[in-house]
Amino acid sequence: MRRLTAETRLHPAELILPVFVREGIDEPRPIASMPGVVQHTVDSLKAAANEAAEAGIGGLMLFGVPEVRDAVGSGATDPNGILNVATRAVAAEVGDALVVQTDLCLDEFTDHGHCGVLDAAGAVDNDATLERYRDMALAQADAGSRILGLSGMMDGQVAAVRDALDSEGFTDTAVLAYAAKYASSFYGPFREAVDSQLQGDRRSYQQDPANRREGLREARLDLDEGADILMVKPALSYLDVLSDVAAISDIPVWAYQVSGEYSMVEAAAANGWIDRERAVLETLTSIRRAGADAVLTYWAVEVAGWLK
Ligand code: PBG
Repeated sequence: MRRLTAETRLHPAELILPVFVREGIDEPRPIASMPGVVQHTVDSLKAAANEAAEAGIGGLMLFGVPEVRDAVGSGATDPNGILNVATRAVAAEVGDALVVQTDLCLDEFTDHGHCGVLDAAGAVDNDATLERYRDMALAQADAGSRILGLSGMMDGQVAAVRDALDSEGFTDTAVLAYAAKYASSFYGPFREAVDSQLQGDRRSYQQDPANRREGLREARLDLDEGADILMVKPALSYLDVLSDVAAISDIPVWAYQVSGEYSMVEAAAANGWIDRERAVLETLTSIRRAGADAVLTYWAVEVAGWLK
């Protein structure tokens, strides 16, 4: 009876696995603050991509961890930069079975760890960053990424990237706008995952957790700029924002269950304080119930196995 009357269902096709690929390592490297998650080599990433395809999930979101960083994040636009190399390899391997997607942001590639380039005073320069994002979009699309995940929260980034893609003939490359992305403590473990160099915080470009209407406003702006998919992030602490965005959006709405959300459940489960499988399924069901059409989650492949 419960199965028949359930209002919300989970399906592997609606799960996307975020993955990390690191330059200059021979073996996958565990991420201590995210038990079960690793920084991949290109080879181990190809194997993980095949496993994900086998599991029937919807896609992969790739993050690159370069060996060398500089002020403008040169590795992000270099065709031989780790993220672009890995994208090419994964697209060749599983491009027909999975939607290969890439994080479009400079923070992994800059030596100061910010999502954009800095001005003379050390503040993030919004419009100079848009120029970098345009180039990064072309490099990623050329490498075979089908969806570009614009996570940098610069104003005007969706319009800028859409224009760059269209003017170079990449009209089929989709833009996933991190429309409402909050300056969250729950990104903590991710900073280890990408070896982040960040000093300070991102509160000058990410949103204040106190603000709900502002999330909706950011989503409307991205819709107007030509986004193909909207994202709310983090997920569990922002279900009200997710529900608001889902109510007004006529394009898909996704949510990102971020590193801290993952690690909290893992830590509690490891201590025997919580039923791990039930907790994982409950969080994902709640995110779907609030209005997410698909969810980025580090549990994507494991959950797909449970759902089979
Ligand atoms: C920025 C980016 C971040 C995450 C995804 N993209 C970090 C940040 O904004 O500080 C966090 C994802 C997670 O915590 O799982 N490129």
